[in-house]
Amino acid sequence: MPQINDPLAVYIHWPYCARICPYCDFNVYKRKADDALLPAILSDLKHWRELTGPRTISSIHFGGGTPSLMTPAQVSQVIDIVAELWTFYAPEIALEANPHEMNAEDWRGYRAAGLTRLSLGLQSFHDPALKFLGRDHDGTTAQAALDMALDIFPSVSTDLIFGWAGQTLDMLSDDLTRILDAGTQHISTYQLTIEDGTAFAKAEDRGQSRAVDADQSADLYDHVCAILKAAGFEHYEVSNFAKPSHRSKHNLAYWQGIDYVGVGPGAHGRVTLGNKRQATIAHLTPGGYTRAVTETGSGIDSCDTLTGADWATEYLLMGLRIDEGISLTRYRNLSGKDLDRDELNALIGDGLLRRVDDRLCATSNGRLLLNAVTERLLLA
Ligand SMILES: C[S@@+](CC[C@H](N)C(=O)[O-])C[C@H]1O[C@@H](n2cnc3c(N)ncnc32)[C@H](O)[C@@H]1O
Ligand code: SF4
Repeated sequence: MPQINDPLAVYIHWPYCARICPYCDFNVYKRKADDALLPAILSDLKHWRELTGPRTISSIHFGGGTPSLMTPAQVSQVIDIVAELWTFYAPEIALEANPHEMNAEDWRGYRAAGLTRLSLGLQSFHDPALKFLGRDHDGTTAQAALDMALDIFPSVSTDLIFGWAGQTLDMLSDDLTRILDAGTQHISTYQLTIEDGTAFAKAEDRGQSRAVDADQSADLYDHVCAILKAAGFEHYEVSNFAKPSHRSKHNLAYWQGIDYVGVGPGAHGRVTLGNKRQATIAHLTPGGYTRAVTETGSGIDSCDTLTGADWATEYLLMGLRIDEGISLTRYRNLSGKDLDRDELNALIGDGLLRRVDDRLCATSNGRLLLNAVTERLLLA
């Protein structure tokens, strides 16, 4: 049974964007006036408090969509209500911002409201790349937004997309050098993925390639790892690199199996109620979500109890993504059994896993083959 001191992360999904990027399959909608969404989010948070009971907030993350379309007053209302509802002691409070919407007054307003971290969707500094990716900012705006973010927030993270068709190692080095020169403390690097139903998927179907092939992508990823390691970044998760003490507490909650509530259209949550772990999903569309909150007090659309085996599997899949790995005791307590000893030793022998006392971690080679490694462990 979770106690008051047990950490709870809060995810707020703001689904609107100024325009929809051709590669994106997140739960997003073209921006429109919507006065009902914020009140619904605030009410939904109150409902969540009834479910979780008293807990200590470890992080609040405004994701999207484009939460930098929210006004500082809206962001402040969310933070204030979370602080009223749960115990609140210096949590990480982060917001995802698009460079196109950069605005010193708003960003200073976010900082005054309590934001400790800005996560900037830079993607690249190259104008042709940004155009190709369908972004609404150019390299000059990217640089100005990064400098402004570093000026205002104690911790700044940048998202970089690599692996777009035509990208060379030199272009990637150039993007990384500019991010490093600015003094960014955290970098998330995502390999361009062609998601079903996106404009990029349709282009690929017409034979127009949007992403590099797997070999080129592996070379680009190795290049990112080498450059960021040399620059003193900790490669603490497959796609994430941080200067010491700048890891994303919120994302770590997902990977470490800490409880999080998901509020806003389509948001996912994982919350331990009693001694059962619940997987929740909020109503998908902004209209459906606000209607559900108005009619029932809650935005939750589905709530499924995970079995011990499901919970253990999720803990393993998420935990092997991070450098600290998983606790074998916790895995056994959740699943009711140990991992297969022979398969475990074989994977350690192959140099894909490492065991230190109770912790099991993926090596850097293991991280490259993580799907195959976890499949071998779980099917043994
Ligand atoms: C939820 S998005 C929101 C960030 C913000 N709206 C933006 O676009 O700048 C978080 C990040 O996921 C990454 N991303 C989204 N779709 C992707 C895809 N198909 N392939 C690779 N990275 C992707 C981008 O780097 C993006 O910044
Ligand atoms: S990548 Fe960001 S800005 Fe583009 S559609 Fe997705 S959430 Fe919106």
